[in-house]
Amino acid sequence: MASHFVLSTGAKIPSVGLGTWQSEPGVVGDAVYAAVKAGYRHIDCAQVYGNEKEIGFALKKVFDEGITSRQDLFITSKLWCTNHAPEDVPVALDGTLQDLQTDYVDLYLVHWPIRMKKGAGFSPENVIPADIPATWAAMEGVYDSGKARAIGVSNFSCKKLEDLLAVARVPPAANQVECHPVWQQAKLRDLCASKGIHFSAYSPLGSPGTFKAFTVLEHPMVVSTAEKLGKTPAQVALRWGIQSGHSVLPKSTHEERIKANFDVFDWSIPSDLFAGFSEIEQTRLIRGKFWTHPEGLFKSEEEIWDGEI
Ligand code: A2P
Repeated sequence: MASHFVLSTGAKIPSVGLGTWQSEPGVVGDAVYAAVKAGYRHIDCAQVYGNEKEIGFALKKVFDEGITSRQDLFITSKLWCTNHAPEDVPVALDGTLQDLQTDYVDLYLVHWPIRMKKGAGFSPENVIPADIPATWAAMEGVYDSGKARAIGVSNFSCKKLEDLLAVARVPPAANQVECHPVWQQAKLRDLCASKGIHFSAYSPLGSPGTFKAFTVLEHPMVVSTAEKLGKTPAQVALRWGIQSGHSVLPKSTHEERIKANFDVFDWSIPSDLFAGFSEIEQTRLIRGKFWTHPEGLFKSEEEIWDGEI
C-alpha cells in the first residue's frame, strides 16, 4: 500500500502523519522527534493547538541531526478562525512559519469554514459571518507567494466544498475532516475523489482520549479484525483509512504508540473483512456543538454541517 498519495499540485503527501491536536506543550516536541525517527514524514499542525513553537524546535533538531531534511518532510498547518480577514491570512501564516522555523508549509488549510472576531477567544458568541470566497482569495495569495506549497480546507461539508469549487481560482488540494470506521464520510470521500481533492482523516482512532464513553478502538468489527490479523485495534483503524484511499493523522505523545501506529504498510485487511466495515453504524463524534449557541450565528449542529450529520 502506498506510503503516500499525490496532491493535485503533484506533491506527494505521506499517508500517515503525526497529529498534534491536544499534544501538550512539554511533550509535543519529543513526540515529533520520536515520530520522525520512527519514519514519519508528515506532521499535522495548527496555530490554534498552541504548540507550533515547540514543534519548530523539534524540527530544527531533526534537521540539525540529519534524521531527515526539510524537503523530505511534509508539514501542514491551519489558518485559525480569527484570521479569516484577507489581510490577516498572510500575517497568520508568517507567524506559523516563524514558530515552525521554516519558510514554507507543504499544505495550509482553512481550519474551519467558520469565522470569529479577530483576536477573540474561543466562544460561539464570537462567531461572525464567514466570507469564504474572500478568505480563499487570500489563501490563493499565500499559495502564489510560495509560502504555502498547497492550500486546502478542513471541516468542509460537501455543500461548502462545492460552493468553494465554484469560485476558486486555485482549487483546494485537500479537505481534512473527521474520519474513522465509525464515521466513514462515504459521500464526502466520493466527492473529493471526483474533484481531485485529497481526503485526509483527523481523529482516525476516534480520539479515545476525548470520547471516552464511545471508542472506535472498542468497536466489535475493529476488535475482531485486529484479533484475526494479530494487529492492534489502532493499527486496524489506521489501515482501514489508508486502504480506503486517504491519509490518516493519528495523534500520540507516547513513543511506543507512535511507532506502532506507523506499522501499517506491509500488511492489509483482506477484502472480505474490509467489506464488513461498510456495515458499521455511523456516528459523527466531532459534532461542532462548541460552535453553537441559542443566540449565536449557528443554533444547531445541523447548521454547522449543512445537514450532513
Ligand atoms: P496518547 O497520546 O496518550 O498516546 P486521534 O488521533 O483519533 O485523535 O486519537 C488520539 C488519542 O488516541 C490520544 O488520546 C492518544 O493517546 C490515543 N492513542 C494514540 N495511539 C494509540 C494507540 N495505538 N492505542 C490506543 N490509543 C492510542
